[in-house]
Formats: sequence, C-alpha cells, structure tokens
Amino acid sequence: MVAARITVNGETTPISPATPHTTVLDFLRDRGLTGTKEGCAEGECGACSVLVARPGVNKPTDWVAINACLVPVAALDGQEIVTSEGLATAGEPGTPPTLHPVQEEMAVRGGSQCGYCTPGFVCSMAAEYYRPDRCAHTDSDAAGGADAEHGPNGFDLHALSGNLCRCTGYRPIRDAAFAVGAPTEDDPLAQRREQSPPEPVATEYVQDDSTFVRPATLADAVRLLRERPDAVVVAGSTDWGVEVNIRSRRADCVVAVDRLPELRELRVESDHIEIGAAQTLTEIERRLDGSVPLLAELFPQFASRLIRNSATLGGNLGTGSPIGDSPPVLLALEASLVLADADGERVVPLAEYFTGYRQSVRRPGELIRAVRIPLPLSPVTAFHKIAKRRFDDISSVAVAFALDIEDGIVRKARIGLGGVAATPIRALATEAALEGKPWVTETAEAAAKVLRGEGTPMDDHRASSLYRSAMLGQSLLKLYAQTPEAVSS
Ligand code: FES
Ligand code: FES
Repeated sequence: MVAARITVNGETTPISPATPHTTVLDFLRDRGLTGTKEGCAEGECGACSVLVARPGVNKPTDWVAINACLVPVAALDGQEIVTSEGLATAGEPGTPPTLHPVQEEMAVRGGSQCGYCTPGFVCSMAAEYYRPDRCAHTDSDAAGGADAEHGPNGFDLHALSGNLCRCTGYRPIRDAAFAVGAPTEDDPLAQRREQSPPEPVATEYVQDDSTFVRPATLADAVRLLRERPDAVVVAGSTDWGVEVNIRSRRADCVVAVDRLPELRELRVESDHIEIGAAQTLTEIERRLDGSVPLLAELFPQFASRLIRNSATLGGNLGTGSPIGDSPPVLLALEASLVLADADGERVVPLAEYFTGYRQSVRRPGELIRAVRIPLPLSPVTAFHKIAKRRFDDISSVAVAFALDIEDGIVRKARIGLGGVAATPIRALATEAALEGKPWVTETAEAAAKVLRGEGTPMDDHRASSLYRSAMLGQSLLKLYAQTPEAVSS
C-alpha cells in the first residue's frame, strides 16, 4: 500500500508522522500553514475552513468547504485540498501575492478587522464562488432574483452559515460576498473543476498503536467490522471529530466509510427513493433538488453548510442522538434503513430502529448502507425545529409532519418527534387523533392537545419540559394555520 499522502495547495506531502487522530487543522498548522485557525475545535465557528476537491454534482469536481478541525488528516489520504494561502497567486520574488477575488472583496469592503475568522470566511466564500450553478440573476428574474439571503450575483449566504466573526460585523462580509463576480476562464481552480477529483484510495494508516482504515469496498468494510467490532465507524467525522477534540477520545481502530461506492448511490425507483448512507447532506440536497419537500425544509436547518458538506444521514442515524435533526423527518416520511453486515442485508423500519438512549437494533459489525423513503410522498408536510438560534443550533424540540388530506379529511398522518424522549419517536396518539377526522380547527386543536402529552420531555439547560410540550402543540396549530385552504377543502 502506498504511504498516505495529501496534496495541499498543489504540493503533495506525506501524512506521517501525524497520528490517526491528528486533524487536518493541526496537520496544516504544524507545517506552517497557520492561515487555517482554530476557534472552537468543534465545528461551530468556521475559522478552520479549507477547500477539498470532491466529486461534483454538475461538474466532475466541486470545491467543497469543510471544517478542518473535525476531519482526521488520514481521512484525506490521496485527496487534494486548498487553504487560504493557496487561494492567492504568488507574485514575482519580492512582490506580494495577488489576492484571490474573494480575498480582494473582503479587503476592500472592510470585511476583516482582527482577521482571525477571515481565512475561514474566505475559504467558505471561495467554495460558493466556484459553485457551478451559482449564476447572477437578471433583471427579468422575479424581484431581481435577489433577497436577504441571496446576492444579485447568485451568492447564497447560507454558504457562510458556519462562519462566525466576533469583531467586524456581518454587513461588510455580506457586501463582499454579494460583490464577487464569476471566475475568469484562466482561473486555475475554476479549470480544475473540469477534471475528476482524486479517487478515494484504500488506506491503512498505523501510527502510535492506532489504525485508520479506509476499506475499498463494502465487502472489505463489513469483513473488517466483523473482526473489529470495537472499531469506530466514521463518515464525515463531524461527530467523531468533536469527541476527539473536546472529550479527548481515542480509538484503536477508526474505519472510514464515506467513499464506499455502495454507500454513495442515490436512486429514485417507482415506489421508493434510496439514499446512500454516505452521501453528504449537501449532495442529497442538490441531487434531490426539492423533490422531497420535507427534506428540503430540513437541510437549511441542519447545522451549517460547512457541516452539511461532510455530515451524512448514516452518521446522524448511527449516533442515535434523541435530538438529531434527521430522525423526526425520516420518521414522518416512514423511512426504512438498509443495514449490512458480512452475512448480507436486512431492512428495518426507522420506527423500530431506536431502542433506547443512543441504542438501536444495529448489531456490532453492522453498517447503515442506505435510507429508503417510500413513494408516493404525503403532500402536506412541515418541519419545525425549535431552537434558540434560527440556524446552526441544536434543537430543544423538533417536529415533522406528513399528512394526506383528501376532500377535507385527514386520510393519513405521520408525525416524527425529536427532543421529547430518550429516542426520536412517532407521535402515535396524535396520528390516531387526526386520521379520519375533518381537517378543521376543532380537529387541529384537539390533536394539538394530544400532541402536548406525547413523549416524556425533560427540563435541561435548553428548555423546560413545559416549554417543550407547549411547542409540540403549537407546531400542529402552526401547520394547520399554514395549510392552504385548497388542500383542506
Ligand atoms: Fe471552529 Fe473548526 S475551529 S469550526
Ligand atoms: Fe475579527 Fe472576524 S475579523 S473575528
């Protein structure tokens, strides 16, 4: 096996002597690339943002911004990254480099004061700058095409939702984002999008008695997990990275499944959609392009773009958190999980998957291969995440609805809840209180009362149990208030 290596700003370098737990951030800083900063080390500030070349949705390669503080450098064996230092173009000896267009706009519009957050902002901004389907709006677009969150140049401000600035203020940063133009034809990173990204390489990286393995196939992965059921399985590392950095956890063996081809498919069949467990949330969002409205409502509320660029459905379900954002939505969609191990596959309805706090029916050595969503979809859907901040926050309580309403009667109701029990749950009593009833104020109010009593919400620093219960009821009343009359009559 070839020694693990990574290409940084065009230069290929060995990963050794980093350990399997060394993050990309520490690896870069140890090599003097100190533009990449550590703010929080848990994926919340974006000071560590770098660009990685990944398989593209509309072009062979997308430049994708990720949190370097969360990803082990061994996970990028054979891959190619660009840091803030690599965006500028080197000048003649003795002359300063030419700033990249996003750096230039940040400078001239006053988007940087202390500068600590700036390299991270610049990398996130560059990823959006190179997004192939970002296009300037024309005057003929509705409302000029721009709104508070989208610039006239097509820049989606959500690209910066994972970047925090503590001293400049966001106005000049937004001005810079909305001022960048399109990449020129001779822009090397724009040209780079036309070639394929590096293929994932099989990796076995051993250092300090611990091993990082990237198996080549699903068969290799499940065989390895049978031998090493204690191994930590990672995809985007957005959860494991926090454990390593903040809780100092270490593992003898880490197995990466994020590039296994069998976990990276997205197929739309006549009676279901199958989403590979290792597709990133950004990939799913772009590939489904709004065709599953409940998922489309979930994604912008799921952490930040930086996290969504790495996080996967498999990871969110695999950790089994009772306040994960995707389980309520997937419960309302009646999703099933395809679990795989060395003996084969089995399909488990998500409603039967969770068995206790961070416990599930998944056996040691078993992987989540895919998530299946049955078709057709219920037409009336909503996802309400109640949190202290609108974006990039953990929910106090989350509610997802999927209702079939025909001739004013609720034919079917599926409601997924998060944050009100030791596991994500279905609101079965409320579903029963709705089904077969006319979709009228009395039904909504009676069902809201039932919904307030679902689960066993607790008091903690995020919210009181009373507040959580109250929010459940309000969610249903909000759904009712927002349901178009055409649906209910
Ligand atoms: Fe804050 Fe990485 S250091 S997100
Ligand atoms: Fe100081 Fe953003 S410029 S934190």
